[in-house]
Amino acid sequence: MSFDPDWLDLRAPADDAARDPWLLASARACLLGSPDALALDLGAGTGATVRAVAASGVRWRLLDHDPELLARAAERVPGAETVVADLARLDCVDLSDVRLVTASALLDLAGAAWLDALADRLAAAGTALYAALSYDGRLDWTPAHPGDAAVALAFNRHQHGDKGLGGPALGPDAARYLAAALARRGYRVRLGLSPWRLAPGPLLDALLDGIAGAATEAGADTSAWRQARAATTFGSVGHLDIFALPGFASAQSKTTSVSSP
Ligand SMILES: C[S@@+](CC[C@H](N)C(=O)[O-])C[C@H]1O[C@@H](n2cnc3c(N)ncnc32)[C@H](O)[C@@H]1O
Repeated sequence: MSFDPDWLDLRAPADDAARDPWLLASARACLLGSPDALALDLGAGTGATVRAVAASGVRWRLLDHDPELLARAAERVPGAETVVADLARLDCVDLSDVRLVTASALLDLAGAAWLDALADRLAAAGTALYAALSYDGRLDWTPAHPGDAAVALAFNRHQHGDKGLGGPALGPDAARYLAAALARRGYRVRLGLSPWRLAPGPLLDALLDGIAGAATEAGADTSAWRQARAATTFGSVGHLDIFALPGFASAQSKTTSVSSP
């Protein structure tokens, strides 16, 4: 699946404002604790996660299947290693010496088989994970419109399409699925809410167009809804962040939620 770099740039400020600050700080601390640590960013795009984590003295390896996005990332993150690879072949991703695997806006593209395989690979290597900004299915608009629920239902159905990562995507369920899979493998997992909070502007317009398009493909009639949504004064799009540390093996490993919207 390919992504427009302009879309990634448009969403970047909202992503940065949304990231759970405590989990972001945990990711940074995980890297700063060991000199010359290696971090691997999966589905790196133009390098947004590296810029957000902003940890000095860290070696970054940025992996994506889109060479054009990685070329931009290389300009923006001097010194980072870039790897063009298809994450569908997760078994080919080298985790040796990787202290922290990161990702943002990636998990919701993946299916259960891929998320299980990722949990297996992380656990086998004893690698920590910081995965931010996975869509969680919650859409909220002001003012409300009678079509909101039907459009959200159709949009969320659309999110389950196959994106080439382990079968039909888990979409809004992906982050919690991976959190549970890691907890079962002995990880201490923390979840944080990271909703976009959007005022009127280009990102809100593009998002409403995207949601209307996807919901239409999933069978909803969105024309009246999209027209009415031109008057939207506030929008919220739910996301979840995960930070997970290995080494707390227990049959009763817990998944805890650490922040509220
Ligand atoms: C929504 S974008 C997020 C990009 C970046 N992490 C960010 O937050 O701006 C998803 C990224 O995953 C990459 N991606 C999707 N499917 C992939 C695959 N099968 N193999 C490698 N990268 C993939 C895309 O090229 C894109 O850069």
